[in-house]
Amino acid sequence: MIKYLGSKRTLIPDLVRVISHFPELTSATDLFSGTCRVGQAFKRAGLAVHSNDLNAYAYALAMCYVAADREAVERDARLLIEEFNRMPGEPGYFTKAFCEDSRFFQPKNGARVDAIREAIESKGLEPSLKYVLLVSLMEAADRVDSTCGVQMAYVKKWAQRAFNDLELRMPEVVPASKAGPCRATNLDALEAAKQISTDIVYLDPPYNQHSYLSNYHIWETLILWDKPEYYGVACKRMDCRTRKSDFNSRQGHMPAFDEVLRHAARAPLVIVSFSDEGYQSRSHLEAVLREHGDVHVISKDFKRYVGAQIGIHNPDGKLVGEVSHVRNEEYIYLLATAGAEKSEITRQRLAIFAESQQQASGQLFAVGADTVRPRQHTTAEVSILAALREHGDLSARDLERITALTSYRIASFLRRLAESGDVAVRAGTRSYYCVNRESAGDSMGEASSPPPTALPTQCRAQRSDIELMEIVKG
Ligand SMILES: C[S@@+](CC[C@H](N)C(=O)[O-])C[C@H]1O[C@@H](n2cnc3c(N)ncnc32)[C@H](O)[C@@H]1O
Repeated sequence: MIKYLGSKRTLIPDLVRVISHFPELTSATDLFSGTCRVGQAFKRAGLAVHSNDLNAYAYALAMCYVAADREAVERDARLLIEEFNRMPGEPGYFTKAFCEDSRFFQPKNGARVDAIREAIESKGLEPSLKYVLLVSLMEAADRVDSTCGVQMAYVKKWAQRAFNDLELRMPEVVPASKAGPCRATNLDALEAAKQISTDIVYLDPPYNQHSYLSNYHIWETLILWDKPEYYGVACKRMDCRTRKSDFNSRQGHMPAFDEVLRHAARAPLVIVSFSDEGYQSRSHLEAVLREHGDVHVISKDFKRYVGAQIGIHNPDGKLVGEVSHVRNEEYIYLLATAGAEKSEITRQRLAIFAESQQQASGQLFAVGADTVRPRQHTTAEVSILAALREHGDLSARDLERITALTSYRIASFLRRLAESGDVAVRAGTRSYYCVNRESAGDSMGEASSPPPTALPTQCRAQRSDIELMEIVKG
């Protein structure tokens, strides 16, 4: 399987465990399928799966691992893979773009990609078989690339694996599901959501500005084989500038999500993967989910992707930025909707599941419940709390400078700290000022700010001596 940002590989056991508690639900849609690992796991678990993604390379993965059945393609695919592995290289578009004008692959491997890709195109294969071979080629190229896992840049010194010879392998195509045929589509999520007719819908949209098309532009070009003009050091396809997803924009994300959810909520069970790192706030997500039915959440703590752990480097390889934090929290929301067929039984099952989980691990709680399990702080939160402890009164700008976090992240982490009772927030707007409890009565912040009159009555500093106040300006 290819290296992929936001892949839910580590969540699969939890997701499969969740669906096993809903035996009446026999079909699922994954609207933002990416690597389609979730769809694959659901197909293996016996569901009829529909995987959808906006990008062609993700559609190819879903055609191979979800729509295709092992029994139907394995024999022919193995024969063709053997044939392609004997084929000599023939440099073409791929070699020029990604081995000469940029350095993502060694030219010997680029030439083999060119030759094999042309051969796949010229054979006129039926779609399932064609996509199995395309995925085999994409995965083979992924094993010999020279990147840190995204294609915005290649590494300055060749990655060791880039010197290996490209070799195709048979993808682990999943046998047919007993619940019926599976399918893949290549649509905007909203269009796909309008077609939903499954019992379960899984939502895992992008949560920040990073475009998957730009991060995986080479796979898009390899699959579409449209040989586009390109730009920049990474030789990105021209349409990286114009093909945008609403989910990658601060303004677009939440309205797009709400609209998709409105359609998804026709299914009795909606499962949402949510990371605390993006545009969507937990409170908004929980509020909008609760409009559609009963909600429970499982919280997971994940290591962030490797790029964040090694820091930010300039083209000379010098460290120029600090890593803000290396862990983030992931949540799985379970929404048993009201009104759909099978809704009543699904809601009962969810309640039973939630209770059993709560007893077993204390990790799952009903949204809006009075007692929420104390959670561990992320590294970013710890650095905010430490800065407040060390410096006392701080404006949001000072916090940004000291912690090297962006203002957006500061605001969202402060909101979370307030939600968990570590700091308190008075409802207001615009700018945050943080103070130690003892000095809360003092004037603080910029000269033009009105001084706080008294600590807000709703302050609940439970586990620290720090109070956060938000001053209303203008
Ligand atoms: C967080 S990733 C999903 C990862 C996936 N669950 C996995 O385990 O690999 C989000 C996916 O949404 C896709 N995407 C972005 N905007 C989209 C849109 N408007 N409609 C459908 N898919 C979209 C991206 O191509 C990306 O694959």
